[in-house]
Amino acid sequence: MPTPQNSQFTRRGFFGASLGTALTATVAPNAFAADVPVASPADFPETSFALNGADVKIYSKAIAEPVRVLQISDAHLFLDDERGADYRDYSKRMAAAYNKTKHFKTGADTNPIDELKKILADVSPEKYDAVVLTGDIVSFPSAAGVDFLLENLGATGVPYYYIAGNHDWHFEGLPGSSAALRAEWTSKILAPLYPKGADPLAYSVDVKGVKLLLVDDSTYEILPEQLDFVRRELAAGLPTALFMHIPLYAPGRGVGYGVAHPKWGAATDGGWKIERRERWREAGHTETTFAFRRDVLTAPNLVGVFTGHVHVSSLDVCEGKANLTARAAVDGSTTKIEFLPLGER
Ligand SMILES: [Fe+2]
Repeated sequence: MPTPQNSQFTRRGFFGASLGTALTATVAPNAFAADVPVASPADFPETSFALNGADVKIYSKAIAEPVRVLQISDAHLFLDDERGADYRDYSKRMAAAYNKTKHFKTGADTNPIDELKKILADVSPEKYDAVVLTGDIVSFPSAAGVDFLLENLGATGVPYYYIAGNHDWHFEGLPGSSAALRAEWTSKILAPLYPKGADPLAYSVDVKGVKLLLVDDSTYEILPEQLDFVRRELAAGLPTALFMHIPLYAPGRGVGYGVAHPKWGAATDGGWKIERRERWREAGHTETTFAFRRDVLTAPNLVGVFTGHVHVSSLDVCEGKANLTARAAVDGSTTKIEFLPLGER
C-alpha cells in the first residue's frame, strides 16, 4: 500500500477540523532507509516508569508535555451480518469464543460489544490525546465489526490508531500463508481503520513530541522493510513508544511472547490445527525478527513497548525498558498510558 511522503492526514475527513488544534500528527511513510545513524545512550536522558494497577506513567526529561493515551486491546468483537455470510465456516469458532464475558470489576454478565461501547462513551479529547488499538479488536475480518468501530471511535472526537492482531485478518481454514491472508483481508476489510496514507505493516504518529510507533507483528514475525522503517523512526530521536499486538520475547515467558522468542517455531506451535492456519516456520525466527527485538530494546529513546495478545496485564523489564501487555478489553479492561515530563505527577 503506497504512502504519501510526510503527509498531514485527516482521518476519513472526520478529524479534519480539529487536527490542527488538538494534535500535531503526521504519518511517516514506511520506506527503506540506507544509512541509519545510531543514537548513543548518552544522547538521551534516562526514562522511568510507574505502574499503578493496569495503568502506567512513563517519565522522561525528553517529554515536553503530558501525552495521555488509552490502549484498547483484544476486544474480540463478534459482530457479523450478511456481508460475512459466505465465510461463516471460517469465522464460526472465533465468533463464539468471546460472546459472553464477565465484567472485570463487577463480575456481572456482559459481552465485548457492550463493554467497548461503554469504554468509548467515556473517551473524550479532554481526557485523552489518542486511543491506540493493539489488535484482535475483531475476532475475524468483519465488515460489521469495522462499521461499529468507525462509528463508536469516531464519536469520541479523539484520534485513534489501529494495528492488527492475529485474529483481525484471519478466517480460519482459508488456504494461504499467514502473510498473504493478512495482506488480503487487511485490504478487503480492515483498511478503513487505519489513518489515511498509513502503511498497515508499520506507521507512526507524533503526538505532542512523543512518537507512537505501530508495527504489525501479528504473524509473530518482522519483515525486513518493517525493521528498516523502525530503525529509521528510532533514529529520529524523539521519545518513542512501540505498540504491537504480540509481545516481544522476555526471558521466562512462553511463546505467547513470541516475537524473537528463541523457541518459537513449528515444534512449539500448539495452535495451528485448531486455528486452521499455516504452521509456524520450521527453522524458527529469522535474523530480521531477532534484530528487531535487539534494536528496539537497545534504542536509548524507546520509552516502552505496549502490546496485547496474552489477554492479561503483565510487565517485563528487558534492557531496562518496560514491556507491558494489556488485559483484554472483552471484559471492559483498558490501559491508560501517560507520557510525562520528569517531575510531573
Ligand atoms: Fe486476543
